[in-house]
Amino acid sequence: MPIQHFLQFSDFSTEEHEWLFRRAAEIKRKFKAYEKYHPLADRTLAMIFEKASTRTRVSFEAGMYQLGGSVVHLTTGDSQLGRAEPIEDSAKVISRMVDLVMIRTFGQDKIERFAAHSRVPVINGLTNEFHPCQILADIFTYIEHRGSIRGRVVAWVGDGNNMANTWLQAAELLGFTVHVSTPTGYEVDQDIAGIRSPNSYKVFKDPMEACRGADLVTTDVWTSMGFEAENEERRKAFADWCVDTEMMKVAKPDALFMHCLPAHRGEEVEAEVIDGPQSAVWDEAENRMHVQKALMEYLLLGRVTD
Ligand code: CP
Ligand code: NVA
Repeated sequence: MPIQHFLQFSDFSTEEHEWLFRRAAEIKRKFKAYEKYHPLADRTLAMIFEKASTRTRVSFEAGMYQLGGSVVHLTTGDSQLGRAEPIEDSAKVISRMVDLVMIRTFGQDKIERFAAHSRVPVINGLTNEFHPCQILADIFTYIEHRGSIRGRVVAWVGDGNNMANTWLQAAELLGFTVHVSTPTGYEVDQDIAGIRSPNSYKVFKDPMEACRGADLVTTDVWTSMGFEAENEERRKAFADWCVDTEMMKVAKPDALFMHCLPAHRGEEVEAEVIDGPQSAVWDEAENRMHVQKALMEYLLLGRVTD
């Protein structure tokens, strides 16, 4: 049997994603009811971080303990990864000792090379190109608040980055449309996003037009991790791509606002929006843990029904 990895959103079928959303709801219900649920007793997750993290670290670590398992936490600075041990060798060694690996790194090629030499499933905890666990949480949050995302419009305001790419993959698989507005020079690239056709997204020069009639307005930092050298240049280019109350007003009256966090109030989003009544960012952050518990259970045990 080939090992199943979750390196990008499109690694799972539509039906598998729908399963994960249903399962995440059940796993969240158990958590809220203080029901002990330890299907991953004696299983170990290795978490490898080559970039900073708060949510991804806490959600995977707490989630794995709640499922009865354990975690090993590695960073570039405190492992041989930072001293140029080949990624293939690291994959061979680490995957002989643990049951599951989560990696946050730079290029997608790095996580693909790790997965190619791993004996156990590998999860993408963010790369320069994709952030699939975050989009799982975002869509699960949308479903909790508003029902199915099929046929809906998601407005993406900001950088054509890892989050934008993953939204495009999700739209193609789950049947919704993304209205994308980025400054010139920061557009999404269909090839990097890894989507088959341009049918599930529309590009808008004006972010206001992208938001018009949207069911969900979402954004992200102007400068992603790894691109810090471009910070000053980006601050100028992105000045008009701040999600404000005017943009929320032209979206549907019941539109939600989401942001993967960490956020910079006054840059990519106004405080009135992220701290306002349409914002779902705290549920979105919490849901990282619930969807990732469903994901880890699925990768290790398949479709559990109980
Ligand atoms: N949204 C997200 O992945 O947050 P962290 O960088 O804190 O993990
Ligand atoms: N696009 C951001 C997301 C952080 C969670 C980054 O890659 O830094």
